Amino acid sequence: MKREIWRTKAGLIFAAAGNAIGLGNLLRFPSKVALYGGGAFMIPYFVALFLIGIPLMLIEWVIGRYAGAKGHGSMTGIIGSFFNHSYGSRVLGSIGVSIPILIVCYYIYIESWTLGFAFFSLFGQMPQPVVSEDPKTAMAPFVDFFKGYTAPSAWAVFFLVITLLINWIILQRGIAKGIELTAKYGLPLLMMMGVFLGFVSLSMNGWRGLDGLLFIYTPDFSRLTDPQVWLEASGQIFFTLSLGMGAIATYASYVKKNEDVVKAGLYTAGLNEFVEVVIGASIAIPAAFAVFGALAVPELAKEGTFRLGFMTMPAILMSLPMGSLLSTVWFFLLFIAALTSSLALIQPLVALLEDEMRWSHAKAVNVSMLLVSFGAFLSAFVPGFIDDVDFWAGTLMLLFFGLLEIIIFVWIFGVHNFHRELNTNSFLKIPKGLVYFYAVVSPVFLVILLYFWGVVQLPKVLSQMEPNIVISRAFVIFMILLIAFFSVESRRRYLAGPHM
Ligand code: PHE
Repeated sequence: MKREIWRTKAGLIFAAAGNAIGLGNLLRFPSKVALYGGGAFMIPYFVALFLIGIPLMLIEWVIGRYAGAKGHGSMTGIIGSFFNHSYGSRVLGSIGVSIPILIVCYYIYIESWTLGFAFFSLFGQMPQPVVSEDPKTAMAPFVDFFKGYTAPSAWAVFFLVITLLINWIILQRGIAKGIELTAKYGLPLLMMMGVFLGFVSLSMNGWRGLDGLLFIYTPDFSRLTDPQVWLEASGQIFFTLSLGMGAIATYASYVKKNEDVVKAGLYTAGLNEFVEVVIGASIAIPAAFAVFGALAVPELAKEGTFRLGFMTMPAILMSLPMGSLLSTVWFFLLFIAALTSSLALIQPLVALLEDEMRWSHAKAVNVSMLLVSFGAFLSAFVPGFIDDVDFWAGTLMLLFFGLLEIIIFVWIFGVHNFHRELNTNSFLKIPKGLVYFYAVVSPVFLVILLYFWGVVQLPKVLSQMEPNIVISRAFVIFMILLIAFFSVESRRRYLAGPHM
């Protein structure tokens, strides 16, 4: 069976940028920055970008092209192909499919809120703003509204179903006619809305929004010894660049054989960082600074990741002239960003079922979407599910898998082979010394992070055991086992040769 490829170069770049640019850039980033002290967060953030972000981005692109040429687009097949498709290697690789699928189960539910809120804003159904200097009073109606909506309300379920259907249809249309087309229209629109809202936020209250930018960009060295800040900043790099979960490699597997993947990787990282540290930094935090002042911002962030985006932002925007329209733009911006990312989170499983199980495209998409729908409904109805799954799949498993990628694709494949693949058709000749440097430094950095993860983060979570946690943990294990099963089962089918 012939695998699909991206139709145009621009389409490929848009799709890859759409993959990386998501809720991570516009919601997760501002919340983390606010929570971990602005300029104190940005130093480890940029260190992690250069020590693990850029190298892993290039590794996933290079390996994705390499394995795609052999007909593999999922980590099951990609890692398997380095070990003669032994069972163990396929099971190990399958973690690179279960991570994105676990993430998308809650990601897509949040995506559906953005769609719902965009509609509520458009049709004037958001709460009326209360004018007050005190953030608590000003936000109260929006906090109630958010709580009521995510309870979950019938509307929340309705928009979740719509969001699932939209993803389903686009994936069913395939790589070029589905994902690429969506990104070709979505990305430029996203950029325009982002720049516009950045401008609105910075200029609020006589450009007091600029104070927010200063908070982010004034270096603060006082917290550099706090491992928590390093963990969060590195975790953000993984999440925002879609790394350590095979999602980039899957997209890279659909390039033509002689594509310049170094260029594509640098574009992906560059565009993502633009929408994170320029646009993402210019919206939520500056708006909150302009309206509620410096002291309120870290307090807001402490209330959770959703506070800034779903309560503070609409409270602020709705109090401006044409507030409903501005609020619509904000939530629609989030929706487009989330949509092009959720497609990327599901495609690895589609690729596994198609390339390895040799199912038809339609069947592969249907089964993937049924699993995602199941997880998404659990996210909606089980309290604590989102946080728990995010904790395991969205942080620990990423670090682990990122390390594994370097070990397999650079160490085991061999620096020489990797370097040859890296420089094939590349506009930039990357010296071998640099590959050696990263082959040592990046894994050391990751091992240190994993160590701190074990001593700092893990005890915190293990101490809080609620009954609901049993459901989310059982779900995580179920998904990992199911996808491992597909990976083992498909080995037999794979070795039997192409299907009819
Ligand atoms: N990078 C996306 C974001 O910032 C999330 C994502 C992760 C998307 C992994 C695809 C794969 O929201």
